[in-house]
Amino acid sequence: MADSLTIIDNRTDKRYEVPIEHGTIKAMDLRQIKVSDGDFGLMSYDPSFGNTACCKSQITFIDGEKGILLHRGYPIEQLAEKSTFLETAYLLIYGELPSGEQMDDFVSQITRHTMVHENIKKLMDGFHYDAHPMGILLGTVGALSTFYPDAKNIMDPEARQRQIIRLIAKMPTLAAYAYRHSRGLPYAYPDNSLSFTGNFLSMLFRVTEPTYYPHPVLERALDVLFVLHADHEQNCSGNAMRSVGSSHVDPFSAVAAAIAALYGPLHGGANEAVLRMLKEIGSVDKVAAHIKRVKTGEVRLMGFGHRVYKNYDPRAKVIKRLAEEVFEVTGTNPLLEVALELERIALQDEYFVARKLYPNIDFYTGLIYEAMKFPMDMFPVLFAIPRTAGWVAQWEEMLLDPEQKIARPRQIYLGQQRRDYYPMAKRQSQ
Ligand code: CMC
Repeated sequence: MADSLTIIDNRTDKRYEVPIEHGTIKAMDLRQIKVSDGDFGLMSYDPSFGNTACCKSQITFIDGEKGILLHRGYPIEQLAEKSTFLETAYLLIYGELPSGEQMDDFVSQITRHTMVHENIKKLMDGFHYDAHPMGILLGTVGALSTFYPDAKNIMDPEARQRQIIRLIAKMPTLAAYAYRHSRGLPYAYPDNSLSFTGNFLSMLFRVTEPTYYPHPVLERALDVLFVLHADHEQNCSGNAMRSVGSSHVDPFSAVAAAIAALYGPLHGGANEAVLRMLKEIGSVDKVAAHIKRVKTGEVRLMGFGHRVYKNYDPRAKVIKRLAEEVFEVTGTNPLLEVALELERIALQDEYFVARKLYPNIDFYTGLIYEAMKFPMDMFPVLFAIPRTAGWVAQWEEMLLDPEQKIARPRQIYLGQQRRDYYPMAKRQSQ
């Protein structure tokens, strides 16, 4: 059996042999298919990249039909149970689990880079009191590029490494400052005696106590949530990171673009949208009416469906269990009943079954975050912090891949043909 595809162009009756590698043909191989010498050549049309591989990657594997997610080969369930966020970040970036020494060094580097320049606080102060923290995060991460001009040296491995460490280390600080700003609280400096997640909770919730001691169950739960959010291969924000990074801009600017992509309600903004939806539904007896609205196309069932998963999102399974552990400490979230009923009905309803719509990672996270006293507008920020590890791993892989060039898709132009400009006086309103 030959690893190739035979294409017969019925316009010309010509035959073409196109090689197949990794179950894929190269889109550029289609360009030889022409009607005439002057013809540009055949292109493929794939709005929203439904069936286009934009890179070869060794970072994250997803089998959406089976509900499998692996980072560098390790199943997400095992990482969630046994690893920590920083260890998973190390794995994503460097490709292997660290030795004890490598881990100590990585943790110490991250811990030493948690502070941000004092001028960032002034920048924060300029935001309106009710500014969405995701907007603040987006703006301030972009601003970091002006504080670190060496970030432009993207082909220098040491400079690249410095920015990777800075990004992972400073993201919780910026996120916590954004939260404190919205609450009118003084910014709390990092406490390097705490874990990555413990320090983040301290920067958020510390008031006058000299040391803030996070509840160990909640600290671990947040760390597990960070593990679960660390990467998800070529999703909208990962693609934004690669695409913007392919212009060879500094990684702070590229991460700002990735955050912007994550902000949308169809992506990382979904966790916030789920909780708003659950609050709007309010009680179990209103669930059926809401499902009806979803089925008529009036609204989407937020936290359901996925471009890749056509099965239960493996992260959602872990999160459902995690919710129970958190609720034991915080007390249950009354909206849990509503969520469970929504899931129960949706999983047996023909509309959802036919379209293979299952709960995704965002369906239960909001309930946990709310129980942990995070305001709703912080939810997407809690997604951005860990996803930074995935973004920088994807970014570096893209930079070092000799097959990658600046991202520049083609289009099918269906607009006006060439025509001459004419004066305003002769124009009529359309
Ligand atoms: N509620 C109701 N119907 C839905 C939903 C939903 N949540 N998701 C998809 N559908 C329907 C959609 O209307 C379409 O039906 P039809 O074939 O009759 O037109 C069919 O299912 C296929 O949907 P699609 O829009 O072609 O699917 P997609 O792969 O383009 O979209 C998605 C994926 C995640 C954007 C979408 O499922 C969605 O909007 N979900 C709600 C938002 C959400 O939870 N997003 C978080 C995703 S997971 C984490 C992340 O990426 O950040």
